[in-house]
Amino acid sequence: FFVTLRMWRVVLKPLVLGGQYEYILVEKRGENKNVGFIQLNRPKALNALCDGLMKEVGQALDAFEVDKEVGAIVITGSDRAFAAGADIKEMQNRTFQECYGGNFLAHWNRVSTVRKPVIAAVNGFALGGGCELAMMCDIIYAGEKAQFGQPEILLGTIPGAGGTQRLTRAVGKSLAMEMVLTGDRISAQEAKQSGLVSKICPVDQLVSEAVKCGEKIASNSKLVSAMAKEAVNAAFELTLAEGNHLEKRLFHATFATNDRKEGMTAFVEKRKASFQDD
Ligand code: HXC
Repeated sequence: FFVTLRMWRVVLKPLVLGGQYEYILVEKRGENKNVGFIQLNRPKALNALCDGLMKEVGQALDAFEVDKEVGAIVITGSDRAFAAGADIKEMQNRTFQECYGGNFLAHWNRVSTVRKPVIAAVNGFALGGGCELAMMCDIIYAGEKAQFGQPEILLGTIPGAGGTQRLTRAVGKSLAMEMVLTGDRISAQEAKQSGLVSKICPVDQLVSEAVKCGEKIASNSKLVSAMAKEAVNAAFELTLAEGNHLEKRLFHATFATNDRKEGMTAFVEKRKASFQDD
């Protein structure tokens, strides 16, 4: 009996392991099952982001992106760790040639190209690539005991998935420099003060609060939410004049949708809008 690698991966592994994914748990949450939910699930390694895990996150995001029911996505870890970074054991013996030649970690970028809104629910450690993964999301909620850091410098390297860029934009130069140059972590409270996270929740309520936020977002027009997300993200890429121009054009574009008509008509008729995503 001959089992090819592909047969093992595609047919046997999911059967043996009882699901499509090895490193993550994936389901739909919320009353209307309209919030895509991804839980990083390598608890013994504090959710270290090995290649296989990030590939699976990409696959789950692809599936949610085309799922017409899903209007928002939550990514979370465990109470102890959102993710303690890229997998150091996997990186330990890599050469420059392998990193550069194979464009190491390029596929992580999938998280930042999702068009549906993504919320990171961070309990425990969000370090290195873990902090960067959270920052690729659109909204970060933190549990009271969360800790954020970019400790790569202590390993003789630097952040490689947006840490020097997104952290600096989120918290400003001085704190970002301090974190990147010392490897020191900040608490959930400091992260809130500096604008990295938008809400702090008790540890045991974090996930349900994030899902609630996802449900709120999913109850709006998915089409118009995508435009809103595109416009906010443009603030990081464009000049103020270009950004305002894009915003105005997208605002005009909402007038081509039935959802815009429904939203304003519902207001005038003093009823709740029922968006159809068209
Ligand atoms: C691989 C990791 C890991 C990681 C933890 N583990 N972090 N394995 N890669 N990033 C493993 C440990 O080896 C250990 O497994 C188990 O998880 C528990 O970790 P402990 O260290 O025993 O736990 P604790 O003493 O509570 O300390 C927790 C911690 C520490 C402070 C989070 O684990 C830590 O400092 N981790 C590394 C954090 C880090 O440097 N992150 C940046 C990575 S570089 P075993 O089997 O050994 O007991 C990075 C680069 C990004 O992210 C570049 C672009 C993406």
